[in-house]
Amino acid sequence: MFGGSRSEVEVVEAAPGKKTLCVIGAGASGLTVMKEVTALGHTVQCFDENVRIGGVYTKSYDRTMLTTSSLLTAYSDYSDGREDSPKFWSDEEYLNYLDGFATEFGLYEHIEFRSTVKSVTKCPTTGKWLVKVALGGCYVWPHRSTFLLGRGVPESAREEAATKGAATLDDFYGKAATQGFEKIKGSYVYDYYDHVTGEKRRMDPSERATAKTLAFDAVAVCTGTNTWASLPEFEGQDEYVASGGEIVHSENYKKPEVFKDKRILIVGAGESGSDICNEIAEEAAKVAIAVRGKHGHIIPRKQSDGRVTDLNTNRCRYSNPYVLGDWVGYVTQLAKKTVAKYGGGRAKDASERAVLQKIGELNMSQGTSAFSKFGCKNEGFVTAMVTKGAELHRDTFVLKGGKKAVFADGSEFVADAVVACTGYKNSFPMFEADDVKHDQVSDGVRVADLNKRYGQNPRKLYKQIFCPLFQTGELAFFGFARPAFGAIPPTAEMQSRFFALVFDGVVTLPSREVMETTAAKDQANWEYRFGYDAKRVKGLVDFQLYCDDLAEQFGALPPLRRLFFTKPKIWWKIMFGPFTMHQYRLVGPYANPELAARVYSKQPVGDLLESSITATFLIMAKTLSLLGFKQFTPNNF
Ligand SMILES: Cc1cc2nc3c(=O)[nH]c(=O)nc-3n(C[C@H](O)[C@H](O)[C@H](O)COP(=O)(O)OP(=O)(O)OC[C@H]3O[C@@H](n4cnc5c(N)ncnc54)[C@H](O)[C@@H]3O)c2cc1C
Ligand SMILES: NC(=O)c1ccc[n+]([C@@H]2O[C@H](COP(=O)([O-])OP(=O)(O)OC[C@H]3O[C@@H](n4cnc5c(N)ncnc54)[C@H](OP(=O)(O)O)[C@@H]3O)[C@@H](O)[C@H]2O)c1
Repeated sequence: MFGGSRSEVEVVEAAPGKKTLCVIGAGASGLTVMKEVTALGHTVQCFDENVRIGGVYTKSYDRTMLTTSSLLTAYSDYSDGREDSPKFWSDEEYLNYLDGFATEFGLYEHIEFRSTVKSVTKCPTTGKWLVKVALGGCYVWPHRSTFLLGRGVPESAREEAATKGAATLDDFYGKAATQGFEKIKGSYVYDYYDHVTGEKRRMDPSERATAKTLAFDAVAVCTGTNTWASLPEFEGQDEYVASGGEIVHSENYKKPEVFKDKRILIVGAGESGSDICNEIAEEAAKVAIAVRGKHGHIIPRKQSDGRVTDLNTNRCRYSNPYVLGDWVGYVTQLAKKTVAKYGGGRAKDASERAVLQKIGELNMSQGTSAFSKFGCKNEGFVTAMVTKGAELHRDTFVLKGGKKAVFADGSEFVADAVVACTGYKNSFPMFEADDVKHDQVSDGVRVADLNKRYGQNPRKLYKQIFCPLFQTGELAFFGFARPAFGAIPPTAEMQSRFFALVFDGVVTLPSREVMETTAAKDQANWEYRFGYDAKRVKGLVDFQLYCDDLAEQFGALPPLRRLFFTKPKIWWKIMFGPFTMHQYRLVGPYANPELAARVYSKQPVGDLLESSITATFLIMAKTLSLLGFKQFTPNNF
């Protein structure tokens, strides 16, 4: 119990010589933080406002299929045993993977669900972080996954929950379609089943929560970079809505049937826009997709030989220096487009060939490559264009009465609804609550300032993880670096491994000044590399460069030269197979070379065409750099 005006504080106890950590959020990032830190014997408590683990994947649209394959998405220390046949998990399958991970490492016992962290302050006397949590009473709208029960629950209970869940969802959608999504979201009451125990519970947004405050040594913020929708105010939207048009953000989109026989305008062509465009095009009377600048660089989920495309997200490709990146992309794209045109590549039919060809055309016409543009790792909107007559407008628009969207080139599209797939923004309300406004943290900086200064822009954090004010690493953020091509969960795993070693005192962070100047330098590099995209998507990074950078901090970079001579098969898989995190378990702290070797023995490599092109560029770059042209120096090769 602390004195002064504070309410009762429960100090969380640690084992002798160990520390306590509060993890906010039990999504893919929070889980890996918990696993890494509990493995070192520290005490961890996690709070999540949801009813189960898995974050975004518990509430995304019904037919969500990941865009990163199971190989690329998996953590390095928990295998689904299917490395030889990677696939794209559905949200449900990925939730099962996470459930297996949480069960294997005993993480459930550290998590309190339906617990919203309301504020995070720092006690000036003890230096502890005070976390105020509201228990119960919070609201998550129903989704299929809410009714999925954990593996410990009997089959009969699972069946009952599934039936009950389906009925609840139908009821919810029926009401949402007629009463408006936003309205129903805040008032809908439903029964659900506790994911772990199978007990029946009630979710009622009007139920009052109880509050408690706990004191920890450190806080890990894992609240998700796709938690807060970014919904722009469209010019003319009032007139549009007054004439009967509806505007929905993609976070509220669940299934296409709601738009049956309607005319729909999709805004934005990232992965949400692309997937959703294709789904809605199946039901709607007509669909158009609007891109104000360039769409994400499109890579289909699967190659024409039916294998997952991210087998080519490999070290050979991304070791190429940035100056050659667009050329690598251009030549690969040209080769693939040509193969698609002349019927090679085993595309299964003419429409698949047409889609692949169109992808080549669209990417080449906007001059992007995977080196300089955020990824749209699904072909959805292209399929919708080629096979379902969806229109692409590369133009800005204004909304008007008569449910019209008028584009800058004068063309018009009448739309019953606008589905804004305009992405997300970072937000940390727990650093803005009233009780944190007057807190003194360090050198005149208040907690409330932390959010403005560091939180909202992860590039201000050291390595996009650590708040530079604390050399102890006691305030850290996970999951806020988004690889342009690559997956967020394994990136968060690398962040967690680095953090755990800092938290444990094995690795020391540099001084505040060095952390701040390094963050500024890194920011300038990412902004140079990704230009405009790096400013809108503030966490955007290159998967390989970023993970290598983290690995270097704690000594886990794969020893490529040594592997070439001693374990050439593993070297080959690392260079030409998918960029998985097993390469960082070969050496260094908490290496697991046996598991890594087992996985590499099964893991396939990318296709011959792309591998040959990227290898040719890489050898050329290496030769030029050896001849003294330093701008061609490959990355870690
Ligand atoms: C439709 C969709 C599909 C995606 N597919 C892919 C993919 O294929 N590959 C990929 O790499 N990425 C994908 N992503 C990105 C995805 O966001 C990340 O992979 C993943 O969710 C990151 O996990 P996280 O734990 O950082 O965040 P989240 O999954 O968002 O989890 C954050 C958790 O924090 C909790 N929380 C937030 N605030 C509080 C609070 N105040 N108190 C308590 N709890 C709180 C939330 O309830 C949530 O459980 C996808 C995103 C979307 C929207
Ligand atoms: N199936 C999947 O695996 C899947 C599905 C969905 C999402 N995701 C993941 O979730 C994250 C978010 O993806 P996302 O597609 O929702 O967002 P996103 O990738 O950030 O893309 C947002 C899109 O909206 C456009 N946009 C933003 N603001 C706009 C405005 N004011 N007016 C017009 N257009 C605007 C952007 O255009 P500009 O480029 O011009 O700014 C961009 O095309 C990503 O990490 C993605 O990988 C994965």
